[in-house]
Amino acid sequence: MRVGGRVEWLLEPSTPDELVAAFRASRERGFEPRVLGGGANLIVDDGVLPGVVITTARLNKLFRAPTDFDVADVLAGDESSYARVAPEERTQNARLVAWSGATMPSILRASAELGWSGLEGLAGVPGNLGGGVAMNAGGRWGDMWDAIELVRVLDRDGNLRDLAKSECSPRYRDGGLGNSIVLGAVLAFRVDEPQRVKDRIRDYLLEKRRIQPVTEWSAGCVFKNPSKELSNGRSAGKLIEDAGAKGRSRGDAIVSELHGNFIVNRGSATAADVLTLIEDVRDQVFEKTGVRLETEVKLWRAG
Ligand code: EPU
Repeated sequence: MRVGGRVEWLLEPSTPDELVAAFRASRERGFEPRVLGGGANLIVDDGVLPGVVITTARLNKLFRAPTDFDVADVLAGDESSYARVAPEERTQNARLVAWSGATMPSILRASAELGWSGLEGLAGVPGNLGGGVAMNAGGRWGDMWDAIELVRVLDRDGNLRDLAKSECSPRYRDGGLGNSIVLGAVLAFRVDEPQRVKDRIRDYLLEKRRIQPVTEWSAGCVFKNPSKELSNGRSAGKLIEDAGAKGRSRGDAIVSELHGNFIVNRGSATAADVLTLIEDVRDQVFEKTGVRLETEVKLWRAG
């Protein structure tokens, strides 16, 4: 959304093992590190954010899953293992191993080239694998966890854990991993034809562009969709439209006319503009409809 200030300490590990080391080193020095994925669903406060941020930007790696040795080595960043991942027939072993910084568009591109189906519903979803898994990114055509086979996490006590999907309970916009940090994942697909996968991705992208301000600066949907019982089946965007809050603004932050659940930065909005506008919208929707919307975007407050 291009708002917010700076961070006191920024650590940039380039392998999952380095991320673990960065986490432990921060902890030893009394910092509770925050982890920055693609930042697509995040609003960072103005000013200087105290403490440590670990970014996964340099963990942007995606591999074919190996058949002859352990994916655990690939997840850890053992170079000798992944260098040996030989290309295989695309109809065999339709799995990818992704580190947490692998971008969602690059994962979709790879699966489309291979003709592997499962994540087309995430077409147009920005950000990285780690955030996508942690919050179960997705929408009406599918969710991130549809394709998860296993995730490797670092829990807040500093322990590594490999969790099979059956051990996890992902929910709507929540991967159910608590405050553990996602280091990587194994993704499993269904073998299909490359052209068919590409066509579905294109169709979803076109539909998304029609209904969302995808090219403008935003943090995606601001609020979660409320439960159907509370809202009479109306989405957050519809409730905001019904409450008459579309077009409402603070500084350069404005509620999108195209989709009510998006706040767009027209150029020089500050985090304070966006955060105040979020509260304005929440209040207006509550007054007009009786529904109190819950934020879906993550907020990093400086204070
Ligand atoms: N609607 C309106 N006015 C609006 C916006 C929406 O009437 O201003 C109506 C639409 O016409 C539609 C309904 O509300 O009938 C639902 O809208 P939409 O199809 O856009 O889906 P959504 O529930 O608003 C969800 C996800 C999106 C995801 C889309 C499409 C949430 C909070 N949002 O949106 O995810 O892209 O489905 O798959 O679950 C995000 O997570 O950041 C995000 C944008």
